[in-house]
Amino acid sequence: MSGEDVVLITGASAGIGADLARVFARNGHRLAIAARSGDRLSALADEIAGSGAPRPLLVEADLAQAGAADGLMDALAAKGARVSMLVNNAGFGLIGAVADLDRAEQVRMIDLNVRALTDLTLAFLPQVRAARGGVLNVASTAAFYAGPGMAVYYATKAFVLSFSQALSHELKGEGVRVTALCPGPTKTEFFERAGAGESPFGAMPMASSMSVAQVGYDGFMKGKTVVVPGFVNRFLAATSGLSPRAVSMQVIARMQLGRLKADR
Ligand SMILES: NC(=O)c1ccc[n+]([C@@H]2O[C@H](COP(=O)([O-])OP(=O)(O)OC[C@H]3O[C@@H](n4cnc5c(N)ncnc54)[C@H](OP(=O)(O)O)[C@@H]3O)[C@@H](O)[C@H]2O)c1
Repeated sequence: MSGEDVVLITGASAGIGADLARVFARNGHRLAIAARSGDRLSALADEIAGSGAPRPLLVEADLAQAGAADGLMDALAAKGARVSMLVNNAGFGLIGAVADLDRAEQVRMIDLNVRALTDLTLAFLPQVRAARGGVLNVASTAAFYAGPGMAVYYATKAFVLSFSQALSHELKGEGVRVTALCPGPTKTEFFERAGAGESPFGAMPMASSMSVAQVGYDGFMKGKTVVVPGFVNRFLAATSGLSPRAVSMQVIARMQLGRLKADR
């Protein structure tokens, strides 16, 4: 297969995805960046080109739409690009009780966080395997818990973690790395988009998106299967199986639903 090797990063117009793009570019990778906001992608591409790296290819796409992965494949093939590494970062959450949140929005979350991530992985896997590249999936520390107040979101991230671990196992020995990056609360537009204001976790410190991106990149390049940035997050992930779910759900519900009640 001929073509230029690129790292495809979804959700690169903001937050962790934009910083992953900066880190990959800084380390000499050519990029293709995708999201819905073409103007923000274009500004990031200018910034990266201004730093002396090649200008990333841009793909404006709503990945929650059916057929989005095919559209991305066609768009990149038309530009002569071959995806050696795929970074599935695009995703969003919604805060509130399942019964109160909009049904279509909750299903759209599954479309983006689960269906698009899976379809993109399957679609680009032949190119990734041929290049002995890799797949970096952005999960969350939410993947280790059940999360009343963000129930569908936590479940989507549990899928991402499980899928990534199993795929990593299947591809072991082929020289193809698969990593689940599991950040804890991180300063981005995520909580605003989720309807939670700045964060439902009150005074709990939030990581910077650049620190998360750097730790994620380093772990991916080292071939780690699961990367949890930050000591507290690693502790919470490691001990998630030790406390009964009924107990952890009490704590999580108090933070995520209690805050909403307090705001009303
Ligand atoms: N922030 C946190 O505390 C945190 C913690 C753990 C995990 N994460 C995960 O980290 C990832 C990145 O989130 P973030 O915190 O950086 O949030 P963010 O600042 O809201 O960025 C989300 C990115 O996803 C893109 N996106 C959203 N809907 C899309 C769609 N339908 N099609 C294509 N792109 C779409 C957005 O671009 P457009 O709006 O331009 O489409 C944006 O680039 C997510 O998977 C999230 O679940 C975040």
